[in-house]
Amino acid sequence: MIKQAIIPLAGLGTRLLPLTSVFAKELLPINGKPGLEYILDECFEAGIKEIIFIISDKKKMIKDYFYNDTFYKKILKKKKDIRILKEYKKILKYKKMIKFVYQNKPLGTGDAVMKTKKHIKSNHFLMLLPDDLIVKNNCSKEMINVHKKHKSSVMASMTVNKKTVSRWGIYKLSKKLSKNNYKIEDVIEKPKIKDAPSNKAVIGRYILPKKIFSEIKDLKPGKGGEIHITDAIQNLIKKNNLFVAHNFKGKYLDCGTLHGYINSTLEISKL
Ligand code: G1P
Repeated sequence: MIKQAIIPLAGLGTRLLPLTSVFAKELLPINGKPGLEYILDECFEAGIKEIIFIISDKKKMIKDYFYNDTFYKKILKKKKDIRILKEYKKILKYKKMIKFVYQNKPLGTGDAVMKTKKHIKSNHFLMLLPDDLIVKNNCSKEMINVHKKHKSSVMASMTVNKKTVSRWGIYKLSKKLSKNNYKIEDVIEKPKIKDAPSNKAVIGRYILPKKIFSEIKDLKPGKGGEIHITDAIQNLIKKNNLFVAHNFKGKYLDCGTLHGYINSTLEISKL
């Protein structure tokens, strides 16, 4: 059973500068609620019991958001505000599930995953990238079912515009395994248009095997000098580990850019 999730949150958020020079983008409200809470709710509904946040000293604000008990208690003592009490209870519910680890140098997603090694207990775990919101359908829940059915690792997949392949991890698929699920033959991090094997992209939901840690350990820095989870996955695929691309049903919203962030608010307000 998949009961643990990890969320890399140590990214610098350069696409949202200057805001991110002082603020954690994952706490920016989307239709009144921090983006990160949508991700937490997705985990909850998918049956996740423990979530590991990978933060950095610069992103301490994220920990403070969940560890502000003195503040809430003081306020609630002064005024019995139902709304504040409800919000505090929600924060407490999240807090119970969260552990923090640190990645103080932004060396890439692979390096972020590595920081969680000693906390991962079962053979597979879920990873969610907080810039990628998927609404209308719980993508993590769907993927956990795919994992159960095919006894495999799983990644969320979406068809993207051919011109944008260098923005994503791109798959080469082999056979269809079941409805919306395909065996992955190759995955390449941010290829040039001419090198891209398709226009099927990795979206930020992954069910990864524990053995990914030993694969990351041996990785050399890839694109942009970072340690990419995609490269570790590609190595596991080459060693005959089954990775399934799952075409999710929900709507994808990219919150990592200003345009995407504004659009997410508009889309979620329509739900
Ligand atoms: C990361 C992954 C990439 C994936 C993307 C999805 O890239 O490295 O393979 O397609 O997330 O959003 P990033 O957005 O961190 O540049």
